[in-house]
Amino acid sequence: MSFPTHRPRRLRQSPAVRRLVRETHLVPSQLVLPMFVREGISAPADIGSMPGVQQHTLDSLRRAAVSAAEAGVGGVMLFGVPAVRDANGSGATDPDGILNVATAAVVEEVGDALVVQTDLCLDEFTDHGHCGVLAADGTVDNDATLERYTDMALAQARAGSHLLGLSGMMDGQVAAVRDALEAEGFVDTLILAYSAKYAGAFYGPFREAVDSQLKGDRRQYQLDPGNGREGVKEALLDVEEGADIVMVKPALPYLDVLADVRASVDIPVWAYQVSGEYSMVEAAAANGWIDRRGAILESLLSIRRAGADAILTYWATEAAGWLREQL
Ligand code: PBG
Repeated sequence: MSFPTHRPRRLRQSPAVRRLVRETHLVPSQLVLPMFVREGISAPADIGSMPGVQQHTLDSLRRAAVSAAEAGVGGVMLFGVPAVRDANGSGATDPDGILNVATAAVVEEVGDALVVQTDLCLDEFTDHGHCGVLAADGTVDNDATLERYTDMALAQARAGSHLLGLSGMMDGQVAAVRDALEAEGFVDTLILAYSAKYAGAFYGPFREAVDSQLKGDRRQYQLDPGNGREGVKEALLDVEEGADIVMVKPALPYLDVLADVRASVDIPVWAYQVSGEYSMVEAAAANGWIDRRGAILESLLSIRRAGADAILTYWATEAAGWLREQL
């Protein structure tokens, strides 16, 4: 009869011991709720590919933001779905455009109880669905797009956005937006750089959520899923350009990149648990194939463990409620 020299199971013997030695914790303030607001609808509209998520009216958006705040969520990230689109995404810079109007409404409603954040990208506003303006050959023109982004940044800052989420993956976008904000005196507006944003299939349900007009893909500007080092390089460039926070997106399929970015920068690192990650769990749960709450909390904890300081997740309000129950 031989006995084990080491007994790591000692640390797992009871809920009390497990709780005491747990390395990673998740609290509501580490969650950010992405929300969609659609122009010209009189009642919230369900999104078929994202059961439980809606395109909001201005009123329902305000109410959902209040619920998020009451649940202790850290912030909301707003996406606009305009009624009319054009080649330059004019609605993005129009002070009366849906996203800018919604931002002012949410800030008025919740004040400083939440960090109110706005998606800074043209794809929801362009009639071709790309994240920038197009050159004559049909590719996205990087430098011409930066001029649109700086105008969009100022429009969002004027609407009261606390944090701009730069998700377009244009080169130099952080520096361009930072300069524009400084020049207009918006010295406190935070910049979240979607630094390591990968081109892939997990954004599928989001395309329905924002009624995307995109044909084709974003592989000329978003990262190739095979490239981890390139994600770290993008994050380092964004830090140099003046980002306050960097992000990795999607989350669960890119935990290795998240861990590498966490080890490489000394500012907050966030992760975006995207629409495809959400809908996979919802679909499996609806079929009775997976424990919904367990899978959601485990995925969020895993993203934290890999290094995310905060997580954008469509489950933010619901998960925050569960986390409070556990305390
Ligand atoms: C770009 C943007 C996208 C998402 C967030 N910001 C779409 C894309 O890059 O194709 C996707 C988020 C999700 O899938 O949940 N405005």
